Amino acid sequence: MLRRLYHEQPESFAFTPANADWAEAQISKYPEGRQASAIIPLLWRAQEQEGWLSRPAIEHVADMLGMDYIRALEVATFYFMFHLHPVGGVAHFQICGTTPCMLCGSEDLIAVCRDKIAPAPFQVSEDGKFSWEEVECLGACSNAPMAQVGKDYYEDLTPERFAEMIDEMAAGEVPVPGPQNGRYACEPKSGLTSLTEFESGRAQYNASAQRAVDHGDTLKRIDGTEEALYAPWRDKGANHAPAPSSVVLNEEPVAITAKGAVKAEAAKDAPKAEAPKPAPAKPAPEAPKSEAAPEAGTRPEALSGPRGGKADDLKRIKGIGPKLEALCNTLGFYHYDQIASWTEAEVAWVDANLEGFKGRVTRDTWVEQAKLLAEGKETEFSARVKKGEVY
Ligand code: FES
Repeated sequence: MLRRLYHEQPESFAFTPANADWAEAQISKYPEGRQASAIIPLLWRAQEQEGWLSRPAIEHVADMLGMDYIRALEVATFYFMFHLHPVGGVAHFQICGTTPCMLCGSEDLIAVCRDKIAPAPFQVSEDGKFSWEEVECLGACSNAPMAQVGKDYYEDLTPERFAEMIDEMAAGEVPVPGPQNGRYACEPKSGLTSLTEFESGRAQYNASAQRAVDHGDTLKRIDGTEEALYAPWRDKGANHAPAPSSVVLNEEPVAITAKGAVKAEAAKDAPKAEAPKPAPAKPAPEAPKSEAAPEAGTRPEALSGPRGGKADDLKRIKGIGPKLEALCNTLGFYHYDQIASWTEAEVAWVDANLEGFKGRVTRDTWVEQAKLLAEGKETEFSARVKKGEVY
């Protein structure tokens, strides 16, 4: 397959501060002189941030790792999980067209792509949401035909189910990845013939699908609002570290078994993605009194509950996820105009009192964002939230 860089390239690339921090954490996993080993995760992160891999992004990663550009280009152009062209904002479908999938109907899936998305590969659909391409075997032949979207596999597809999935995604839903024909994994369609004792008590979905559901992040792109992979070794001066046992998504460390949610018609019983409920109205919380309470700053005025019983969606501020929103609420902050009015001293107080998220107000420029939102304007991020591009 001929893979070339896109003919139009952006001027530059830079990781968001959060993604740069994440990248540094990845690099710190490797011993001195072996930093190039981090190239695939860094290229992947750059792609998740921008949607595709531009030449400046590839070169930026090469610079970070002290590699010659040609070596980074070799990696980016070799693996077709890296998109060298702009792709649809919601999903880029990679349809496996190799023999087992082809025999099981991948050509019909491509016909659906041509019909519902765009006539040619890498052409972005008119609404900007989707694109597609044909790729070689993705290693899920026993669940043919299949398609990959980002880090997820959708397997055992029929043209009808595939078309339905595209509609669901267009509507902002996230179909549960994995087999789409009722199979649990890759057992016979007629059911297990051995190891049947494991059938009861197993999770609702197979391991990888269940993990995607648990994370609730299946189609979501990394856009800088997430936190870095947990990297406890970084403060300990170690070059090596064990693989992290949890990841941090949407601001908070999430144990890999924690329940998240995915909306899907095919999984009505699956837990739904819901923002945590705002903290119930209660007396305005007092400033922390313990000896751990920082002296810095001035506590901003807090509310005992949201005005009119309806809090603003603080998650429209880039850098605030469900956990931080709930934390703000417990501190008595419910509205954009509250945050917009914080003085420097008040920002210092909040920054020092965000348990587990210290410094986020300044780092993520909450006040500037909140000012625009309080005036009824949109930030680039809040507009993306509104369009459903960020969940
Ligand atoms: Fe399609 Fe292997 S042939 S996944």
